[in-house]
Amino acid sequence: MKYNNPITIFLFLSLSFLPSMQNKLTPDYYKKTCPTFLDTVRRIVNEKQHNTPSTAAATLRLLFHDCMVGGCDASILVTSNAYNKAERDHTVNLPLSGDGFDAVLRVKNVLELECPNVVSCADILAAAAGELVANSGGPTLTVQFGRKDSLESKISSSENQFPLPNMTMSQVITLFTKKGFSVQEMVALIGAHTIGMSHCDQFAHRLFGFSKTSETDPAYSPEYAAGLRKLCENYTKDSTMAAYNDVITPVKFDNMYFKNLRRGLGLLATDSALFTDPRTKPFVETYADDEGKFFQDFSRAIEKLSALDIKTGKEGEVRSRCDSFNSLN
Ligand code: HEM
Ligand SMILES: *[C@@H]1O[C@H](CO)[C@@H](O)[C@H](O)[C@H]1NC(C)=O
Ligand SMILES: *[C@@H]1O[C@H](CO)[C@@H](O)[C@H](O)[C@H]1NC(C)=O
Repeated sequence: MKYNNPITIFLFLSLSFLPSMQNKLTPDYYKKTCPTFLDTVRRIVNEKQHNTPSTAAATLRLLFHDCMVGGCDASILVTSNAYNKAERDHTVNLPLSGDGFDAVLRVKNVLELECPNVVSCADILAAAAGELVANSGGPTLTVQFGRKDSLESKISSSENQFPLPNMTMSQVITLFTKKGFSVQEMVALIGAHTIGMSHCDQFAHRLFGFSKTSETDPAYSPEYAAGLRKLCENYTKDSTMAAYNDVITPVKFDNMYFKNLRRGLGLLATDSALFTDPRTKPFVETYADDEGKFFQDFSRAIEKLSALDIKTGKEGEVRSRCDSFNSLN
């Protein structure tokens, strides 16, 4: 490959400007306009996490679901009305726990008193998720700010944007690649399953009548499968039944999720597949052996996720209520 033809040089120069163009966010965006911002986020979300330990996982997943569709712009927080069906009503978003929404709304309520109309809901969500990861024992994330909130939220935008537990690893990789993530970054991000829960209907096919030869998925350790069968025995009648994603240290943000995958303790089919697929297995091994490396890679990947397609200036607004646009449209 030669680099001296004009088109190649042009491409090279424009590409080399991309990182600085995308870097519209800064760590001290609210330093002058809302100096209490980070302290307030910390105080409110840590208090909520203390009373409701499901908050951290709920908020982290909410950030993931916000950022995957049209970027990190709080479009996930908008509620539907008579004129508009919003993102959060898409089937893929229905299981999102109310604790994440509540954490953001609580922070917003306080910030609207401290510095009205200044802090975007998208920034609150990113800050809250970062703080809660650290609060759960995970890495300290360098979250940057300056996101504007979206001017729309459409249920149809969520179609085909999310990985599902019944997808093949190739489908999952394609999805993350489309958003600019490498396989390694993807594996690090899925390490978020070190906290939180999944409802039985998301993995029940692995427990009841899995195949002609095996009632349960042989990728599960037998004891784990037996425990899950018991836990989920009434799941068709009681849809609230759910299991911890990380059965060993369910509320601690650590690398136990990856260690679990080696022992047949991956809850979702895609979790188990990370350990069997030769494209992802080496990263699972690395992260299972080295928590520091997992923390480092997770931090970079989540910072990248939380800067996806962010809106600035007139592309968005600072909502005064996180669940609705400033003007009815
Ligand atoms: C292969 C990719 C992924 C698949 C198939 C997947 C699927 C799921 C499913 C089905 C649940 C359970 C939902 C429920 O029943 O309530 C879940 C929970 C969760 N996911 Fe993922 N996910 C993936 C990647 C990610 C990523 C990249 C993140 C964040 C960076 C993430 C964060 C979470 C968290 C924190 C929970 C627990 C939520 C709670 O307890 O409220 N997931 N995921
Ligand atoms: C996965 O399950 C959903 C329903 O839960 C279904 O709509 C979809 O087609 C399935 N995808 C694959 C790849 O099997
Ligand atoms: C399932 O339902 C049966 C009958 O109501 C009850 O005895 C059992 O404890 C339930 N199992 C779980 C895990 O809730």
